[in-house]
Amino acid sequence: MADVTFTSPAMPKDVTVYATAGDTRTLLSVAKEHKVPIHFECENGECGSCACQVTVLSDKTPLGIALTEKEKTVLKLAGKITDTQIHDAEVKDLPPPWRLACQFIVRHEDILVKF
Ligand code: FES
Repeated sequence: MADVTFTSPAMPKDVTVYATAGDTRTLLSVAKEHKVPIHFECENGECGSCACQVTVLSDKTPLGIALTEKEKTVLKLAGKITDTQIHDAEVKDLPPPWRLACQFIVRHEDILVKF
C-alpha cells in the first residue's frame, strides 16, 4: 500500500492518492484514474513522453527494482538515466531518478512523482 504524490506545474496543487497493495497497475494507470495529467502517447514504453522523476519517500526496504528493457532503452536515449544507474537499480535496488509512467508498476513504497 502506498501513497503516490503527484506534483507538477501543470496542476494547481499536489495530488496524493492511495495505491492498493497487490495492485499491479502502472503509474500512468493510477494517474489516469485520478485525472492527473501526465503526458503520454504510446502507452507502450516507446515514445518517452511519460517520463517522470520518481523519488521514493518511505523508508521501507525497496522491492526489486524492475526496469523493462523498453524503459532502459528509452530513458537512456533521452539522457535521463545512465548505465551505472541501471546497474545500481538492478543489482543494488537503488531506485533510478527517472521512470516511464506507462512501464513503472506502483509497489508498496510511498513515492513523489514530478512531471
Ligand atoms: Fe510512450 Fe510511456 S507513453 S513511453
